Amino acid sequence: MTEKTESTMWGGRFSEPTDAFVERFTASIQFDKRLFHHDINGSIAHATMLNQAGVLSDQELNDIKIGLEEIRQDAINGNIEWSIALEDIHMNIEKRLTDKIGVTGKKLHTGRSRNDQVATDIRLYLRDEIDIIAAELSRLQLAVIGQAEKNNAAIMPGFTHLQTAQPVTFGHHMLAWNEMLERDFSRLADCRARMNQSPLGAAALAGTTYPINRELTAELLGFDKPTENSLDSVSDRDFAIEFNAFASILLMHLSRFSEELILWTSAQFNFIDLPDRFCTGSSIMPQKKNPDVPELVRGKSGRVFGNLMSLLVLMKSQPLAYNKDNQEDKEPLFDSIDTVKDCVKAFADMIPAIDIKAESMYEAAKRGFSTATDLADYLVTKGMPFRDAHEVVGESVAYGIKTEKDLSEMSLEELQQFSDIIKDDVFEVLTLEGSVSARSHIGGTAPAQVLQAVERAKAELLKR
Ligand code: ARG
Repeated sequence: MTEKTESTMWGGRFSEPTDAFVERFTASIQFDKRLFHHDINGSIAHATMLNQAGVLSDQELNDIKIGLEEIRQDAINGNIEWSIALEDIHMNIEKRLTDKIGVTGKKLHTGRSRNDQVATDIRLYLRDEIDIIAAELSRLQLAVIGQAEKNNAAIMPGFTHLQTAQPVTFGHHMLAWNEMLERDFSRLADCRARMNQSPLGAAALAGTTYPINRELTAELLGFDKPTENSLDSVSDRDFAIEFNAFASILLMHLSRFSEELILWTSAQFNFIDLPDRFCTGSSIMPQKKNPDVPELVRGKSGRVFGNLMSLLVLMKSQPLAYNKDNQEDKEPLFDSIDTVKDCVKAFADMIPAIDIKAESMYEAAKRGFSTATDLADYLVTKGMPFRDAHEVVGESVAYGIKTEKDLSEMSLEELQQFSDIIKDDVFEVLTLEGSVSARSHIGGTAPAQVLQAVERAKAELLKR
C-alpha cells in the first residue's frame, strides 16, 4: 500500500495526491534551502521588472517586497520549517509569501518558471561564493609570497624523482606554489566571467508572452547581460562543471602542497615546523605530532574530483531543455564550494605560521651531491665537452660516496685526481650558495631573483 499526502502547487491536473515516498524522493528543499537569499533577490528583481512592465501594480510590488523581506528575516533567524510537501526552496518561499500577503503572492510567478528561477539562483549563489573563495585565495597567495620573501636565501635540496637534484632556495620553492595558485585564481575568474549572465526570462524553456525586460532583471541582479537562448538558459549547468574543474585542479595543487608539508615535518626530512594548533596527537604514541590539517586537505581532494565526475555524468547525454536530473547538480556543487572554502582557509591560516628549519635543510642539501651539475658546468667552461665532464663528475661523486665527503669538502688535490683542469676557483661553484646564486635569470632560484619575483607576484595581487 502506498502512502498518500497532500500536494499543493499543481493540484489542478492531478486526480490523486503525490505518494509520500515520491514526495520525499523528488524534493530538494533539504539541500536547496541554502539558496533562500538568492531566491528572494531573484524574486524581488523579477517583481520589480513586472511592475515596470505594467503586470504588477505599485501596491502589489510593495506587498511582495515586504513579504519577501520578512521571509528572509525568518529564514535568517531559523524560524522557518521548510516543507518537503512544498518540494523546493522556490515553492516554499512562494507559498509562504501567499500565506503572508494573500492573493498578490500568487502573482509573483507570472512570466517565470522554476526552471529559469533555479538557473538564476544557482548562478547568483555560486557568484557570491566565488567572490569569497577568490578573496581567500588571495590571502593564501599573500602568505606564500610572504614566506618566499622571508626565506628568499634559505637553501634546501631541490628534488627530481624525490632524489636530491640541485640546491634551490626555499623562497623559490614557495614561489612555485604561488604560480600554481595564480593560475587557479585566473581559472576561477574565467569561470565567474563566463557564468555571469541572467537566465531569468527564459521561463520554462521557450520564453514568455509577457512584455518582460530581461536587461532590467539582469542589471538589477548584477549580471553582465541576459543569456542569449532560452533553451540553453534552463538546461545549462556547465558553469557548475567549470567551477568543479577549477576546484579539482586547485585541490590537486593543494594535495601536492600538503604532501610536501607532510614530508617536511617528518623527522626524516625535518625541514619545517608546523605550529601545534594545526596538528593533533596520538591517543597511544605520546611522542606523535601529526600534520592532520595538510593530510585532510590532501584527502579532501578525492571528494572534489568525485563531484566533478558526478556533474559531468549528470549532464552527459541529457536532451534539451530542463530535466529533473538537473536537481542533482546542487549537492556536488555545494560540497565542492564548502570543501574548497575550508581547504583554502586552512592553508591561508597555516602557511604564515610555518617555521623553517634552515640549518637542517642546508645540511640535507649538502648530503646528496647537489652541486654535481655545477662541477660539470665548471669543467665545460674550462673547455671540456659536457659528456666528458659528466663522466669526470660521476667519478668524483663515487669517490665522495666512498670517503663520505661532499664535493665541496674535498681538497683541490682530491678533485684533481679526476681532472687536472680543476683549479682552486672551483670552490666558488661547489658551495651551495655559489650554486643557487649562479642561477640568476627570470625564473631562476638565485636569492636576488626570488626577491624580484616576489615583487612581481605582489604587483599581480594588487591588480585584483
Ligand atoms: N528543485 C528544482 C531543481 O532544483 C527546481 C526546478 C524544478 N522544475 C521542474 N520543472 N520540476 O532543479
